[in-house]
Amino acid sequence: MPSLPCAELHLHIEGTLEPELIFTLAARNGIRLPYADTADLADRYAFTDLQSFLDLYYANMDVLRTEADFTDMTRAYLRRTAAAGVRHAEIMMDPQAHLARGIALETCVGGVAAALSTSEADYGISTSLIAAFLRDRPAAEALAVLRDLLAMEAPIIGIGLDSAEVGYPPSLFAEVYDVARAAGLKCIAHAGEEGPPGYVREALDILRVDRLDHGIRCLEDEALVQRLVADQVPLTVCPLSNVRLRAVATLRDHPLPAMLARGLNVSVNSDDPAYFGGYVDDNFSALRQSFGLGVDDLATLAANSFRSAFISGERRAALL
Ligand code: ADE
Ligand code: ZN
Repeated sequence: MPSLPCAELHLHIEGTLEPELIFTLAARNGIRLPYADTADLADRYAFTDLQSFLDLYYANMDVLRTEADFTDMTRAYLRRTAAAGVRHAEIMMDPQAHLARGIALETCVGGVAAALSTSEADYGISTSLIAAFLRDRPAAEALAVLRDLLAMEAPIIGIGLDSAEVGYPPSLFAEVYDVARAAGLKCIAHAGEEGPPGYVREALDILRVDRLDHGIRCLEDEALVQRLVADQVPLTVCPLSNVRLRAVATLRDHPLPAMLARGLNVSVNSDDPAYFGGYVDDNFSALRQSFGLGVDDLATLAANSFRSAFISGERRAALL
């Protein structure tokens, strides 16, 4: 089955670190990993919830030390996702996770941005960068990092909100989003992955997001679903991620078909493909297998990804 041309709108670049690259970067930087080999590392990808994944995700970032490490990681993702059919990617990174390890913003943002600046020429993929803030760290820290990103004129088009969700409602970050919006940045946030529908409401009402990451728990609140349908708020859904982090029991229990049937603006994305069993094409294959999604549904999902991207009308027309 050929890959479906689409945009990827929910992707954590640090979640694309494949076991082989983790070992390569560790060797390059003289770091001793607490795993015997790549198979031993991959064996640990049996997650019980979001936090069990985040623990490993943050630990493995330690191999990213130099600008070249960030560039190589990003290039590896672009190469793989071009083969997955992705024509446009809006890529998140977690600057605070690197700052906390003593890595400068210039190093981590500069390294990712260097790969993105030639993505069209190198891989035929247009790209943009989103700085995500860690909701389980203080909002004041997020605000300080946002101000630093603005001061250095970092090449970002928007901000996101990620990491441990439950206990860290969107409302904590109201000021960060106000500053970002005033600076002309797009506003995106994870909500309704593990957190309740009330967090989705807060993301809409208080953060005034342009797009929601996950959002699957919106289905528990009928009035909220109606609002999301009426406003066609983009929801970047990540089926394999939801299975691996046990937001749903099995793929057959995934609400994506129900969301499509309700008329929600959903797209298919990979989240952290190195950890969750695949890239966008793998997510589409798994959905086809589990649900036998027809040509019309697949075309809708692809069209939703392009219309929910933060791109010019001209670029959208070229992609469609
Ligand atoms: N950071 C990386 N992947 C994440 C996810 N699925 N949810 C929240 N934060 C994340
Ligand atoms: Zn995510």
